[in-house]
Amino acid sequence: MELGVSLAAPSVQELARSLKDIPTRYVRPELELDPVSKDESVQVPVIDVSKLVGGRDDEEDELAKLHAACRDWGFFQVINHGVADEVILKMKADVQEFFSLPLQEKMEYAPLPDDIQGYAPSHVVSEGRKLDWSDFLYIVAQPRDGRNMRFWPRVPSSFRETLNQYSTELEKLKSALLSSMARNLGVEPEKLLTLFEGGRQGVRTNYYPPCKQANKVLGSSPHSDAAGLTLLTQVNEVKGLQIKRNGKWISIDPIQGAFIVNVGDIIEIMSNGEYKSIEHRAVVNPEKVRLSIAAFHNPNSNAMIGPLPDILGKDGKKQAPKYKSISYQEFMMLREDPKADGKEKSPAHQMKLQTNDAQ
Ligand code: OGA
Ligand code: NI
Repeated sequence: MELGVSLAAPSVQELARSLKDIPTRYVRPELELDPVSKDESVQVPVIDVSKLVGGRDDEEDELAKLHAACRDWGFFQVINHGVADEVILKMKADVQEFFSLPLQEKMEYAPLPDDIQGYAPSHVVSEGRKLDWSDFLYIVAQPRDGRNMRFWPRVPSSFRETLNQYSTELEKLKSALLSSMARNLGVEPEKLLTLFEGGRQGVRTNYYPPCKQANKVLGSSPHSDAAGLTLLTQVNEVKGLQIKRNGKWISIDPIQGAFIVNVGDIIEIMSNGEYKSIEHRAVVNPEKVRLSIAAFHNPNSNAMIGPLPDILGKDGKKQAPKYKSISYQEFMMLREDPKADGKEKSPAHQMKLQTNDAQ
C-alpha cells in the first residue's frame, strides 16, 4: 500500500486491524524478563493544586508534599488543578473522533520533511530498532506565533478551538506548578517562569491500538521526557503508563479528571539533580484501544539549559554544578540526535558532569 513519501512505518491502527501475526519489528523478546511490580497499592503522590496557590493554612504542607514528589518520584498526579472538566472532556472527544477518521483523511496531516509535527505512525529512529505499537498526532500548540495550522485537524470541526482552549489552560497550570517548584527549590518564582515564558508547548496524542499479543510489544519504549514539565491525560479508561522505580515497573492508576505530571530532563538539570526525570513506558491492552494526550512544556529559545544560578549560589558556593550549561539551541541538537534514545543517552545523562560525591 502506498501511503505517501514521508511514511517510514505503517499505521499501527491499520496493522492491528488487518493482521494475525505481529511483524517482528514490533516484537520484543526481552519484555518477559522485565519485572513489573505486583503491588498495585504503590502509587505516585497526589497533589492538590488549589492548596498550593490559595495562600491557605495548609499551603506549606502541600508545598512540602510537592517537593517530596518531585525529588523522590519525579511523577505525581494533580487534582483541583483549575482546568475545567468541559475543556478536558471536549479535548478527549475530539482526539477520539480524529483517530476514528479513515487513514486517508488523517494522512492529510502527515509530517513534511524536516518537521516533526503531524499525524504519524511511530518513527523509525534507526535501522534495526524496534518499533512502538502506536500512532500519534503531534502539534506545536504554543506559543501562538509558533503554530503551523497545516497540522491542526479541520475534522472534527471543533478540533482547533478545542485544542486552543486546552493548550491555553495547560499553560496556566504549568506556570502554577513551576512557581511552586521554584519556591521549593529556593529560587525566585519569577526567574523560573521567565525562562519558560513563550516556550514551546508540544501536544502529542498517542493512539495505542489493541494487540492480541500485548505482552510482546510496547506502545512506547522506555524513555525519559526531554522537556521541562509534562502534563498527561489518559483519554479513556484503559491503563498502560508504567514508571521505573527501584528497578521495577509500576503501573500508574490515573485518577478521573486528574493530570499525570512528570519532571522532564530540563527541570532535572535546572534543579541540579534534586528533581528527577524518571524513565517510563506505555504497555498496550490485548482488547482495547488506549489513548493519551501528553503536553510537553519547554523553556523559550533564549533560555540557558543548566543548573539555576540561585541553586548554585554565587561562584557555586551553595552547590557545585552537576550538569553543563548549554544554550537552548545546543540542547535541541542533543535531544534530536537519533542516538539519544532511551534513558542512558537522554540529554540529562549526556550533560552530567563528573563529580566527586565523596568530597
Ligand atoms: C509520552 C509518554 C505515556 C502514555 O508521550 O512521552 O510517555 O501513557 N506517554 O501514553
Ligand atoms: Ni514520556
